[in-house]
Amino acid sequence: MIHKIAVIPGDGIGREVTPSGVKALELAAELHGGLRFEFEEFPWNSEYYVQTGRMMPDNAIQTLKNFDAIFLGAIGNPAIVPDHVSLWGLLIEIRREMKQYINLRPVKQMRGVRSPLANPNNFDIVVVRENSEGEYSPIGGKMTAGEDEISIQNAVFSKKGTQRAMRFAFELARQREKRFLTSATKSNGIVHSMPFWDGIFTELGQEYQDIRQTSTHIDALSAFFVTKPHTLDVVVASNLFGDILTDLGAAIMGSIGIAPSANINPERKYPSMFEPVHGSAPDIAGQGIANPIGQMWSAKMLLDFFGYQEIGTLLLDSIEDTIDRGIVTPDLGGQADTTEVTNEILNRFRQKGAR
Ligand code: NAD
Ligand code: IPM
Ligand code: MN
Repeated sequence: MIHKIAVIPGDGIGREVTPSGVKALELAAELHGGLRFEFEEFPWNSEYYVQTGRMMPDNAIQTLKNFDAIFLGAIGNPAIVPDHVSLWGLLIEIRREMKQYINLRPVKQMRGVRSPLANPNNFDIVVVRENSEGEYSPIGGKMTAGEDEISIQNAVFSKKGTQRAMRFAFELARQREKRFLTSATKSNGIVHSMPFWDGIFTELGQEYQDIRQTSTHIDALSAFFVTKPHTLDVVVASNLFGDILTDLGAAIMGSIGIAPSANINPERKYPSMFEPVHGSAPDIAGQGIANPIGQMWSAKMLLDFFGYQEIGTLLLDSIEDTIDRGIVTPDLGGQADTTEVTNEILNRFRQKGAR
């Protein structure tokens, strides 16, 4: 089977780690007889914006619809384009236009990684982040100027949008051992959208009596990510809460450099998009020391999505073996560079796949 993949390396370290992910996918295809990928790369990033006034051409969404998946590095170069312009012009635009309303983000203790937690106890969480609405909304505006200036930003929570994210999370919990779903809320302080969110969670929960379910305020839940993450299983969260929680999740995993994500259109009507959780990391861009694991693990999520779980598992095993051997970039306390880590993972992947 041939899968057409649009590759958008983007800005900063996105350009340094995307090739590692593409190589992992190429090798997966080589190791798995029936699988083939066709890649096409697109140069859309902040420099493209400086040259053209757009992050992507007018027909970009139409073009991307011809692909089976999108493989993204990272977007953002605030030195030349303000973040809200670059991100709303590409990343958020794609997530919305392709109806990728689920952002799946595993938060899991990896073999060999030293977690900053004293007792990580093998935590294994999946955050289901609502990815199309919530606090990320273009609704709002400004009025007056000077001392009396006012800025208003409206959050948007639809019943449909909330239900579909929660349903996805319940179904995911059903496939896992713990069968436990936590809803991230803040209905003690946010008086409209969060009680609405809670109400939908309770109502939908009736259909999932076999799933243990609880609502936890986001502030307390953040603390639980640090104090007892091993007690959690699936977490469903609004767009912003899910965003913040997964950088925290990445931190307890050991580094933001290893966390993967999948922006999913569950109906598969439009391409889904796979990208690391991290950004373009301007502070280390160009040094060749970016951790490629978040991008390579995102490649594994792409393999899973298309039904190649077996080969995906070999890739993740190879990543863990490499970490376990201490061949890691500086963010994980090592001295290896992007190329060394990538090559080590690929060599191990090749050996496992040949067996
Ligand atoms: P960031 O994730 O880029 O960096 C945060 C910190 O983590 C930095 O110290 C960075 O060096 C480190 N880091 C990140 N990825 C790493 C890796 N693979 N290996 C080693 N260290 C790594 O977040 P930020 O600094 O808040 O944002 C930088 C830019 O990226 C901004 O323009 C922001 O808007 C954008 N951003 C884009 C995405 C995306 O495209 N999906 C995600 C987050 C941030
Ligand atoms: C992420 C990023 C984006 C988000 C930013 C860059 C808009 O932080 O993918 O986690 O908040 O969704
Ligand atoms: Mn984020």
